Amino acid sequence: MGNDPRGTGAAEEVWMIVPAAGSGVRMGLSHPKQFHHLEGRPLLAWTLEVLHRLDFLSGVVVVVPPPFLEWAESLLDGVKPPCPVRVTAGGRERQDSVRNGLEVLPPTCRWVCIHDGVRPFASPDLFRRTLEAARETGAAVCACPAVDTVKLVRNGRVEKTLDRRHVWLAQTPQVFRRDILRTAYERAGKEGHRATDDAALVEELGIAVAVVEGERTNVKITTPEDLRWAWKHLKDTARDGSRPRSL
Ligand code: C5P
Repeated sequence: MGNDPRGTGAAEEVWMIVPAAGSGVRMGLSHPKQFHHLEGRPLLAWTLEVLHRLDFLSGVVVVVPPPFLEWAESLLDGVKPPCPVRVTAGGRERQDSVRNGLEVLPPTCRWVCIHDGVRPFASPDLFRRTLEAARETGAAVCACPAVDTVKLVRNGRVEKTLDRRHVWLAQTPQVFRRDILRTAYERAGKEGHRATDDAALVEELGIAVAVVEGERTNVKITTPEDLRWAWKHLKDTARDGSRPRSL
């Protein structure tokens, strides 16, 4: 465990899992949204570009739908991540896909960073801050405070208005000590818990999850409107120099 393969001063290996095995039904496309082309490259390729700017990573696991395994290999040939890459098949729900990713991590991995394949605009700084917070507590997520008033709605009726001061919208990256995440997934498997993010399963263990402030531009590209915004954002950031032109 004491090796430092990337020469970063971090003694413990950090691997990233990128779940990208969704079907994209909300996008109304004939193919999953993570494979939709944006400025000539699939959305997933844009997301994976951040790997070039994360010097603490020892490796990455990309999780794709089973029919896309070969396709993902050729996409990765284009991205050329600067660290070892493993590709594996996803499952029915996001949680199943992340669990499949966990299964192919090497034994040397100590920290797991999970980042949605459809969030191409998370900054390297956001990854670093989330990892730092996780190193303190064992588990950390990034999230943005809600700006709208949040209502709990059932059957078209408001059940409750939540106190906005305490409502934060979770994003990825989320970072966990590997043994904590493994325990959370084992327990969820035994007890049948389903969750839409990984932190929720860790919360079930009663472990405190630290929150770092996320980024409003770290949008999960989900709808056709998001895709149009992403296209414009890519153009704007290339123009103002905040993203290398090669991206
Ligand atoms: O569906 P959702 O918005 O939660 O998707 C978040 C991320 O999880 C996406 O990158 C999607 O491709 C991935 N996912 C997955 N396997 C699934 C469903 C979603 O890897 N079965």
